[in-house]
Amino acid sequence: MIQEQIDSICQKFSNELNNVVSLQQLSELKVKYLGRKGILKNLLSVFNQDSNEDKSILGKLINQCKSYIEESLEKTQTAISNSLLEEKFEKEKIDITLPGTKRFLGKEHILKRSIYEMVQLFNNMGFFVREAPNIETEENNFSKLNFEDNHPARDMQDTFYLDQKYLLRTHTSNAQIRTLLKEKPPLRIVSPGICFRNEDVSIRSHMLFHQIEAFFLDENVSLADLLVVLKQFFLNFFSNDILFRFRHSYFPFVEPGLEVDISCIKCQQKGCSLCKNSGWLEVAGAGMIHPNVLNNVNVDPEKFSGFAIGIGVERLVMLRHDINDIRLFIENDKRFLNQF
Ligand code: DAH
Repeated sequence: MIQEQIDSICQKFSNELNNVVSLQQLSELKVKYLGRKGILKNLLSVFNQDSNEDKSILGKLINQCKSYIEESLEKTQTAISNSLLEEKFEKEKIDITLPGTKRFLGKEHILKRSIYEMVQLFNNMGFFVREAPNIETEENNFSKLNFEDNHPARDMQDTFYLDQKYLLRTHTSNAQIRTLLKEKPPLRIVSPGICFRNEDVSIRSHMLFHQIEAFFLDENVSLADLLVVLKQFFLNFFSNDILFRFRHSYFPFVEPGLEVDISCIKCQQKGCSLCKNSGWLEVAGAGMIHPNVLNNVNVDPEKFSGFAIGIGVERLVMLRHDINDIRLFIENDKRFLNQF
């Protein structure tokens, strides 16, 4: 009688086990059959009351049933765990043949790279770097550089004044004053930096641009030295077959002052839009440092003489790379920047 009961319990268990799909259901099934108030415990108590049966045989049968249930539960548990793992792996699967996310590498801006190169060319000729501040006094930007009090460049239209005393420097020539107030000649200095002018922004001019100032101050520095340095610089920066032209020009801080032209690098003086059919390109301002400037920084003009050069960085880079709009340099358009 109990034997039949045991068989039917095992049978029922197998049927129920077949329907189990989760670990949760499995543990419920386990409690149902093997728990403290489970079916088997229940059977055991019934069997204890029934003293007619052969206890040792029935005990054995019940134990067999119990082990059968235990083993089956364990097998199913392993199977379910495995399939859950598989499911997890399936979800986590990645296709390593898919193309990766493209990362964009930044690189040095064409202006920065060119400035570095220009400074290097001066370094090669023995010039050392000294930097001067972008925020400058009117005194150092103008007065000490021998600008008359009523010089038009001081006008509010060209200069960003911060207050009565301070302004945004309009050129890197303040490096001459800044350096000479601290260091005594002989000096060979190159000074790159940003300049600001209150100008309308157009393809040709910007209110923010870069210059490189270079100057050489020593005993017996002559115009011939200036021309040698200028030629050396431009021959290296452009190419070996350019011609030079020096025109007299006025800058308050040099005397004589000159404008430096090179033969057009695009048309070799045949005439093109770059040189506006003139065959020449204006590339720098230069001159012999004015005695007044030297006096202003307590250098004896009887003993020392020197030259100064001012180079517009954007202009040179535009010429070299045939760029026709100065605004491109600070617009951060990757299509432009990636070309260099
Ligand atoms: N500072 C001048 C400018 O911004 C450029 C310049 C001209 C610098 C002649 C010089 C120089 O050193 O000798 O227009």
